[in-house]
Amino acid sequence: MRAFPSIVVPSGWYMVGWSSDFPIGTAKPLAYFGEDLVAYRGESGRLIVLDAYCRHMGAHLGYGGCVRGDSVACPYHGWVWGPDGRNTEIPYSSPDNMPRLKLKKWSVHEVDDIVLVYYSNDGRPPLYEPPERMIRFDGETWPACETTTKVWLNEKISPQYMAENAADAAHFKYIHRAADIASIAESKVEGGVFKARLDLTFGGHAEKTWATPTGPVSGSITTENLGLGLGWSRLQAFDDVIYLLGITPISPDAVDMRSTTWVARKRSDGSTMSEKVRDLWVAQQNAQVDADLNVWRHLSYVENAPWAQSETSTMRVLRRWAKQFYPAEANSSVAAAATEGASE
Ligand code: FES
Ligand SMILES: [Fe+2]
Repeated sequence: MRAFPSIVVPSGWYMVGWSSDFPIGTAKPLAYFGEDLVAYRGESGRLIVLDAYCRHMGAHLGYGGCVRGDSVACPYHGWVWGPDGRNTEIPYSSPDNMPRLKLKKWSVHEVDDIVLVYYSNDGRPPLYEPPERMIRFDGETWPACETTTKVWLNEKISPQYMAENAADAAHFKYIHRAADIASIAESKVEGGVFKARLDLTFGGHAEKTWATPTGPVSGSITTENLGLGLGWSRLQAFDDVIYLLGITPISPDAVDMRSTTWVARKRSDGSTMSEKVRDLWVAQQNAQVDADLNVWRHLSYVENAPWAQSETSTMRVLRRWAKQFYPAEANSSVAAAATEGASE
């Protein structure tokens, strides 16, 4: 049987969609982290996420719930739930007789068209702040839209695999066809964020490519993993490209994935990025994730991996960092199960 890093969904900020998925006045169901949720954008523009099931008789507010102001009315008997999750109205009962009922309210953060929700597996407040921006370069780009985004649904993987990629220099040659084994120039942990930078030559295999029209360029890939399920990388060479991948757990062993590619409209020689080259960047970035997925879909997690000397320090740092997102007891029970399995 395949092993996973944990039988528990790791805590963290996770992407549940793009802002445009949540128009004003519409309530929608979300099913993540083993929970059923309702997301709705109130008339003020605020996006609210609550537990889905009405406390009266259990109707799902995401199926037919009616947005009123910044509240949502249940489709079954019209009980109204405010943006803080409190029951504010029972249409056929006086306010004095109302029980004090409340739905759990989830933390939501929207930035650069990306919608994030915080999940905690142990009730602790968020371990790290959500990002203040996703688009890191100055200057214009295209907004997240159908041509710059991609969705993969119900993939049987752990979000930790994406985070491990950032510290795994050797796989760039075998999975992503980098000319040489890239070296990690820098990596560091800042609380819930793991940062790394790889220096490499782009287009080294040809005189010119669509990405390097003036010949090979030395550049870098900067990555930040904000918790285990949200990672962006910035490629800076002839072009400037930010690629965000959100890996959101449905359960401990299944996820939805969403990518967004922001390509700078200005190229480094001052010319304007064409839509054709932009689309090539989007396709290339998504193809890299597909290549990773071919491995991740069938990977059986090795808890105490026998690292080669060159990968030991970065991978150890990454795995130690990753542990903070799981409850301590869950980790040790999985480790024990893995050891038992190995001796059978
Ligand atoms: S179940 Fe929601 S109002 Fe009755
Ligand atoms: Fe990868």
